[in-house]
Amino acid sequence: MLLYTPCHLLALFFSWYFLPTTLANSYFVINTPTTGVQWSNDAVNPITWTKGLLDGVTSVDVELARMNEDGIIFVARDVPASTSTGALNLFLRDVPAGDDYYLLFINSTHGVMYAASQRFAIADTGNGSVPSPASAATVTVSGGPNPTAGFATTFPAAANGVAAPGWRAVEGARTQLGLMAGVVAACVLGGAIAVL
Ligand SMILES: *[C@@H]1O[C@H](CO)[C@@H](O)[C@H](O)[C@H]1NC(C)=O
Ligand SMILES: *[C@@H]1O[C@H](CO)[C@@H](O)[C@H](O)[C@H]1NC(C)=O
Repeated sequence: MLLYTPCHLLALFFSWYFLPTTLANSYFVINTPTTGVQWSNDAVNPITWTKGLLDGVTSVDVELARMNEDGIIFVARDVPASTSTGALNLFLRDVPAGDDYYLLFINSTHGVMYAASQRFAIADTGNGSVPSPASAATVTVSGGPNPTAGFATTFPAAANGVAAPGWRAVEGARTQLGLMAGVVAACVLGGAIAVL
């Protein structure tokens, strides 16, 4: 029993330290889209968010991912996010329909995730029920995930830009999952030794 405890603490520490779910002490919520929203191709679809004013995050990289399919659509890089509310419109073209999409707000340079939306749907042309566009910049997103495509749009703040491909974030997440797996394996091993 004594041998289990440190492992659990260790696992707890690792999950807290390495999993880039959201930053500690920060408030960053994607208000739209939420579950029940159905975006549509060939239409302008709004994203809105609310965040802590003093969290030091001045811009985010926006990505679209699916629960049941591999691949990430890189939507926009360096989207300004220095105020407590923000918005961005996406014009979708030929994005595969599905009901398992979610948006990720991330810093793709070091893979820290600031926010993830609820799961929502994207429909083919004319079949969505799209809320009114927000008063914000509109970014066009074409097609499905393409590992060789960069971000569809980069906002001007990128002038200071670190040229970091978006997949870094995914790589980072994989590394972190790998580390977690290592900790779990070490714990199982510890448990086995304890039983012996
Ligand atoms: C991500 O972090 C790097 C290093 O801290 C910073 O230079 C960059 O501007 C950030 N990117 C975004 C989109 O905030
Ligand atoms: C759009 O909705 C209509 C009516 O529900 C349906 O018949 C049609 O197959 C849908 N089209 C697509 C492309 O999903």
